[in-house]
Amino acid sequence: MTRAPLAAYPALRLRRLRQADWVRRMVRETVLTPSDLIWSMVVHEGEGQVPVASMPGVSRMSVKDCAAAAKQARALGIPAIAIFPHIDGSKKDARGSLAQDADGVIPRAIAAMKDAAPEIGIMCDVALDPFTDHGHDGLIENGRILNDATVETLVTQGLIQAKAGCDILAPSDMMDGRCGALRQALEAEGLTDVMIMSYAAKYASAFYGPYRDAIGSGKLGTGSVENPGDKKTYQMDSANSEEALREVALDISEGADMVMVKPGLPYLDIVRRVVDAFAVPTFAFQVSGEYAMLMAAAQNGWLDEERAILETLGAFKRAGAAGVITYFAPRAARLLGA
Ligand code: PBG
Repeated sequence: MTRAPLAAYPALRLRRLRQADWVRRMVRETVLTPSDLIWSMVVHEGEGQVPVASMPGVSRMSVKDCAAAAKQARALGIPAIAIFPHIDGSKKDARGSLAQDADGVIPRAIAAMKDAAPEIGIMCDVALDPFTDHGHDGLIENGRILNDATVETLVTQGLIQAKAGCDILAPSDMMDGRCGALRQALEAEGLTDVMIMSYAAKYASAFYGPYRDAIGSGKLGTGSVENPGDKKTYQMDSANSEEALREVALDISEGADMVMVKPGLPYLDIVRRVVDAFAVPTFAFQVSGEYAMLMAAAQNGWLDEERAILETLGAFKRAGAAGVITYFAPRAARLLGA
């Protein structure tokens, strides 16, 4: 009797390992836990919480609320919180002067959160855009975003944050040389334990829209000399991948302890390339537009909200990320059973 070729036998059945929950858990390659989450949070100077229309479920929080949230993070097993300021429009100027205010809302929030829950890591954006009336991350002269002059202001801002108790400085402006300048300044001030998580590969993206809403960012795009229409002269071109590796290499050499890819889900290929190329913890930012997109679909009944949250966050782990900065952090931690 002739035998059929081996391939004809249904011996290779990959479904065998999917037949029950216990075996699926047993062979699972990556696991998402609350320790993978950095809670992204907007703080404002006023009292109480102000809902952000384009981000259902997200509110600007008072300094007091942030302190309470730090305790909540501790209870949920979330290791760190990233805070972003909402500044009243009337207090902004072209130079983003309030970024240099040691009594500003960010230093006050850091102090309050550290007081409430010292075990929780605090991360701060080092960038001018929440403070400038034009919404750009740099000083502008004759229609150009100035690099080195901007870096000088970032150093002052970063030192204020570090002295207020911030654990991780996260420069998000994409000026050249800012990691090195920050690291040097921290060393000079004896703040040697302060970490830098660089927004190393940050793309000029449409997905930051709701964030600019959330922080009340100045209106980009008037296109005038005082206000260039987009951030493409400093943030990366979304078509590029090799360039992301150069950005990351440079930031590591300048003293970044961790790096970030941003936005998140549309750039998972970049996360994977960076993880494979460098021995440095790599984080991804699930940005405001990703949050808004998912919530809009869920609110229309087009997506199962809870499953979609955990699936997207799990995807970052699968791509190799050490963790995710996300507005879903407390939600996700609860879904994970924390
Ligand atoms: C700017 C900054 C942005 C975000 C974090 N820091 C927006 C931008 O670069 O224009 C985006 C966060 C989000 O969309 O959730 N320094």
